[in-house]
Amino acid sequence: MRTQVCIIGGGPSGLLLSQLLHRAGIDTVVLERRSRDYVLGRIRAGVLEWGSVELLDQAGVGARMHREGYVHTGTYLAAQNRGFRIDFKERVGKQVMVYGQTEVTADLYHARDEMGGTVIHEAEGVTLHDLDSGAPYVTYTKDGTEHRIDCDWVAGCDGYHGPSRKSIPDSVLREYERVYPFGWLGILSETPPVSHELIYANHERGFALCSMRNENLSRYYVQAPVDDPLEKWTDQAFWDELKRRIPEDAADALVTGPSIEKSIAPLRSFVAEPMRWGRLFLVGDAAHIVPPTGAKGLNLAMGDVHYLNEALKSHYNDRDDHGVETYSERALARVWKSERFSWQLTTMLHRFPDQSPFDQRMQESDLAYLESSEAAQTALAENYVGLPF
Ligand code: FAD
Ligand code: DHB
Repeated sequence: MRTQVCIIGGGPSGLLLSQLLHRAGIDTVVLERRSRDYVLGRIRAGVLEWGSVELLDQAGVGARMHREGYVHTGTYLAAQNRGFRIDFKERVGKQVMVYGQTEVTADLYHARDEMGGTVIHEAEGVTLHDLDSGAPYVTYTKDGTEHRIDCDWVAGCDGYHGPSRKSIPDSVLREYERVYPFGWLGILSETPPVSHELIYANHERGFALCSMRNENLSRYYVQAPVDDPLEKWTDQAFWDELKRRIPEDAADALVTGPSIEKSIAPLRSFVAEPMRWGRLFLVGDAAHIVPPTGAKGLNLAMGDVHYLNEALKSHYNDRDDHGVETYSERALARVWKSERFSWQLTTMLHRFPDQSPFDQRMQESDLAYLESSEAAQTALAENYVGLPF
């Protein structure tokens, strides 16, 4: 088989890139290791920056998001049993959209089906070849038969564990990493959200976050040891812990119920450079990971898709390779700013095992400054709603 762009990974970045390129008349094949049901069953991000919303509109998949998503014009931060609100709209004139990654992915699969896009599921042993030549190709096995796809470019949208980043020689690849000494225990429950807007809470027992998916679906997180056995976290234990960490009025209003999903995610900051090597582009989690505080992971992936879509359109439609040549530099400039924001928010809101009384006072001062300073709130809002592409 031959295609112009072979996309590895059918998560949100791979599907969105495929959809945008298809609309520009550029042919793609998406190779996904898992089944569609598996990909659609993953509960992940929940908050979209406005740039991501606009990109989904540009891809022609925004209609359901605008109907069913929730526009949030601000968020709450809480500490010492008190909360204060940061108004994004007032500070920077922008807002965010609460609409789950699961829904974004479902809308993209629907659109790919409607346009007759090729997405090959359960592709095993995906291997990238000759990326530093003018004729790269990808091999994979499906139902016991080996296949080969010849292409002009390979887009590595295969997440942190995929084969794309590992295809770049060690002599070229530089990796930067910080692993945080805790995880996030998250649950989804069919209960009304405690607050219409999100609450990010700093507490001496650890961080907590109240989020939502819709009027009857809540998403809550508490900071927890990453190796805690899930059995330890009965629903009752989770609700008790969450209530201790959020302001009293919220704890009193919290409606609890059985969890329908429960998992612990590790927290990590990670960046791989460069994001292009020869005919390979890295996109999304394949190139970078952020800790979830601030909801940047999915949005950063969408930023990369924007730059790559523009670069490939110029390459094919205008015979202009400036975008291809500068993809890595442009994407990384934005990535590092979001890495900084996610790291800063994580540092300000979590309890670290080796936290000294001085560190503790620094956190309290950070929050007190944020509460009292319009300039500090503007900086947080500017980053939260998303820096421009
Ligand atoms: P992915 O979504 O990881 O998609 C990569 C795809 O590639 C997957 O479908 C995978 O199956 C496929 N793939 C992997 N290996 C191969 C292979 N060998 N061959 C073919 N296909 C392959 N972000 C937030 O903003 N908020 C959150 O609350 C949040 N929670 C998260 C929880 C978890 C457990 C994880 C892992 C991430 C979370 N994130 C969150 C981050 C966010 O979900 C990611 O940033 C986003 O999914 C990135 O999209 P992606 O398409 O680049 O990668
Ligand atoms: C969600 C996750 C985040 O990391 C965040 O900062 C906000 C919301 C969520 O899953 O809803």
